[in-house]
Amino acid sequence: TYVIAQPCVDLKDKSCIEECPVDCIYEGERSLYIHPDECVDCGACEPVCPVEAIYYEDDVPQEWADYYKANVEFFDDLGSPGGAAKTGVIPKDHPLVAALPPQSH
Ligand code: F3S
Ligand code: F3S
Repeated sequence: TYVIAQPCVDLKDKSCIEECPVDCIYEGERSLYIHPDECVDCGACEPVCPVEAIYYEDDVPQEWADYYKANVEFFDDLGSPGGAAKTGVIPKDHPLVAALPPQSH
């Protein structure tokens, strides 16, 4: 799967959403999250993020390694919604993201 890391927090550019063929990039309050089971690893989202927040799971920089878990665990109580467009903004964030101070860009 691909992973969205810290640069997305409090920015949410959303260019990535347009590129995803399976609509598996979901919006939380402060960040977006890629569904680990719905992502088909097409990689289309990665180059369009203006702040390079998106990484293939094996390529996540060490400082943001915990974001793999954050993207996975975000969906623990959501299961597999099968499409972000119909799900809309999900009123929560992973605790890792929720605990961050406001991010400036
Ligand atoms: Fe976030 Fe980059 Fe997408 S800032 S919303 S991962 S384009
Ligand atoms: Fe979609 Fe990016 Fe995965 S475009 S299928 S979230 S690699």
